[in-house]
Parts: sequence; structure tokens; C-alpha cells
Amino acid sequence: MVDERIVSGHYKHDQLLDLIKNGLREIGKSIDSVTIEDLAPVDEFHIGGRTATEHLVQQLGFGASDILLDIGCGLGGASRFIAKNYGNSVTGIDLTDDFVSVGNTLTNWVGLDQSVSLRQGSALSMPFDDAMFDGAYMLHVGMNIESKDILFSEISRVLKPGSRFGIYDVMRMSEGALTYPVPWASEENSSFLAAPEVYSALLESAGFRVECVNNRKEFALKFFDTLKQKSSANDGPPPLGLHLLMKSTAPLKFKNMIEGITRGYISPVEIVATKI
Ligand SMILES: C[S@@+](CC[C@H](N)C(=O)[O-])C[C@H]1O[C@@H](n2cnc3c(N)ncnc32)[C@H](O)[C@@H]1O
Repeated sequence: MVDERIVSGHYKHDQLLDLIKNGLREIGKSIDSVTIEDLAPVDEFHIGGRTATEHLVQQLGFGASDILLDIGCGLGGASRFIAKNYGNSVTGIDLTDDFVSVGNTLTNWVGLDQSVSLRQGSALSMPFDDAMFDGAYMLHVGMNIESKDILFSEISRVLKPGSRFGIYDVMRMSEGALTYPVPWASEENSSFLAAPEVYSALLESAGFRVECVNNRKEFALKFFDTLKQKSSANDGPPPLGLHLLMKSTAPLKFKNMIEGITRGYISPVEIVATKI
């Protein structure tokens, strides 16, 4: 099994809060005036950002009183979006200390600390009681987790029967070597891509019924085209963007991932499942 310190070491970023504050200044905002919309370009660390989150959440049909779990929450952008727009209480869990602490600060800035709380921990052994949550989602996390059987059993354990679970991960679509680094891994030793069929089989073994599987390749390629056009029009990336999370190797990580998607080796895929 992978040493989780390799994964959190890849994401570790002790300058992140300062970079976000600088970006806010550049867009004319302060910590008193910032909104979740201002933060969306930097706090949703997955292909398609906020648009992708909305697309998945619309299929999950959570009720406003549902208590939700965000597995591998990162900075918690999706959690704040769901809490603000749908009224849910959301708990996030993530391996990377820096993301959890910056994420909790962002939550305070936008006044959502009564409904969103992020904590450090591993998705493979969560500090939560059985059947504690009414729904869960996981955005671009499974690529870092080798033991997806343990992951899905653990998620199944903390969900009530009938709960919806949404996944949006980069998955393996065909054989072909990827070039590293990519956004989720500096090297191949912490990248564990699996095919949608493998996800579905493991979900079913862990007590889920798979409702649908959507390949989001075309959406992803359009998203990257738009980013590229905006970046050339503005002579560089925006003040707040995912490049801040990916540090100096951001252009290379993006390039290698886009190449893998274009060649058909990998793709972002949604899976919606129900805990039986
Ligand atoms: C690409 S980021 C996505 C973050 C967030 N879901 C989002 O979309 O903004 C992947 C995240 O998964 C977390 N992660 C990876 N393996 C994990 C594990 N075993 N348990 C908890 N979090 C994990 C990382 O720390 C990182 O924050």
C-alpha cells in the first residue's frame, strides 16, 4: 500500500494562504468582501472546477437537511458551494494538512463555519461513526488511492442505506504510458488510475448500486481550451487559479494530463451510486 506521506507531500504547500491573499488583492477583494464565487477558480481542484461540481451535484438529489461528507475535500470549495447553495451541513476529510488549514480559513472568511468543517485524516480509516452521513462525494481523489476496495467499504460504512455517493475522478480508459508529473502525482508511484468498470465492480462489492457512469472527456477538453484562450488573452494565468496549488510545475502537470486525455488514455468520469 502507498505511504500516504508521499501523497500529502505532493500536495503540501505552506505558501498557499499568502498566494490566495495576493490573488484577492489583485482582483480588488479582501478577506471581508470575498465570496465563494471569487474563490471558485482556486478552491475547486478538479477538471472543470465549479461547473463540474454543479453537474455532479445536480444528479445526486441531496435534500437540504442531509448531512454530507466530502472525501478528499482539499480546500473544501465544493463543500462551501453545496452548503451555501443547498443549505447542507458538510464535513470534509483530507490527508493534506496545508489544504485543511487553508480551507478552514477560507470557510471563516465567507462566514460558512457553522455549516462546513474540514479535518485532517485518511479516507481509508475515517474517524466517523457508522451510518453517520446521508450522502457523500469525492472529487479527483481516487487517483491517489491504491486500495479502492478499502476506500469504498469505509465510505459505505459511514453512509446510511439509501444515501447517494457521487464520484468524479480521472480514470484509466486505455493502455498507454502517462508522462509525470500530473496534477495528482509527481511520479508514477503515487498514481493509481483504475477503469470505470473496476470502480463499478468495487462499488458493488462494497454495498452500492451503480446508477450511472458518464465520461466527461469532451467537457474536459473544452474546459482546457477556454483556459488556454483566457490565459493567452490576458498574457498569463489569472490572479486566482489552480496553478497556485500546483506550484512551479503547474504548466507541465497540465500539459501531461491534457496529453493523456487527448490520446484517450485517461478521462474524467462521473459515477453516481446508491448505498443499498
Ligand atoms: C486533486 S485534489 C482534489 C481536492 C478536492 N476534492 C477538490 O476537488 O478540490 C486530491 C485531494 O485528495 C486528497 N487525498 C488523497 N488521498 C487521500 C486519502 N487517502 N485520504 C484523504 N484524502 C486524500 C489529497 O490530499 C488532495 O487534497
